[in-house]
Amino acid sequence: MDQSKEQRILDFVLQNAVRGDPQNVVDTIDEYCTHKEWAMNVGDEKGLILDKVVIEAEPSVVLELGTYCGYSAVRIARLLKPGARLFTAEMNPIHAAVAKQIIEFAGVQDMVQVIEGSTADIIPALKEKYQVDTLDFVFVDHWKDRYLIDTKLLEECQLLRKGSVLLADNVVYPGIPDFLEYVRTCGRYDCTNFPSHVQYINEEDALEKAVFKGYL
Ligand SMILES: C[S@@+](CC[C@H](N)C(=O)[O-])C[C@H]1O[C@@H](n2cnc3c(N)ncnc32)[C@H](O)[C@@H]1O
Repeated sequence: MDQSKEQRILDFVLQNAVRGDPQNVVDTIDEYCTHKEWAMNVGDEKGLILDKVVIEAEPSVVLELGTYCGYSAVRIARLLKPGARLFTAEMNPIHAAVAKQIIEFAGVQDMVQVIEGSTADIIPALKEKYQVDTLDFVFVDHWKDRYLIDTKLLEECQLLRKGSVLLADNVVYPGIPDFLEYVRTCGRYDCTNFPSHVQYINEEDALEKAVFKGYL
């Protein structure tokens, strides 16, 4: 059977990156996706914005919607303080299997838990099954028709607290108008837009940061 792109990314990491060095793993994936094959990681340019927002938020409990190969999970985990937890949701078993190996290779497996399944099932289970009280930071980077639904689900499940930070990728390319309209107009969020470019190519894109103000 033909190898998947995700498997090729994994192989490149295993053969070229430094085990236990998350920055080097991130750089190695960027190198592969810049020169060999495009992939849907947040990438190096938008990754710098992600880094900045994570550093500012100093989160202890993080949720990522959409793991893919584990690039952004490793990127976020390398900035977390000891004892912090990152849950990352992935419904594609091939992506989840690759991500687990990349996360383990990067040495951040103690703080990162890949949860296999759909966010529709995972979000409502976070409190009971994963002992989450509230989330400090949520990276929203899965299929675009789920951004708004899952934001409302996070609210309904009382997983957001005053100051919880949502950071959403791809709000220009391909664009998520229903999500943007909601967070910008519902009155529950303070929003900031970070213009950037699509990963590994020169198309305009942006990240949207939405800080939860409370259940107004
Ligand atoms: C853009 S990629 C994530 C990229 C990753 N955050 C990174 O920057 O390295 C989106 C991923 O979300 C997964 N996904 C999409 N919808 C999902 C859902 N409702 N629940 C769980 N995973 C989902 C897809 O299978 C895909 O692997």
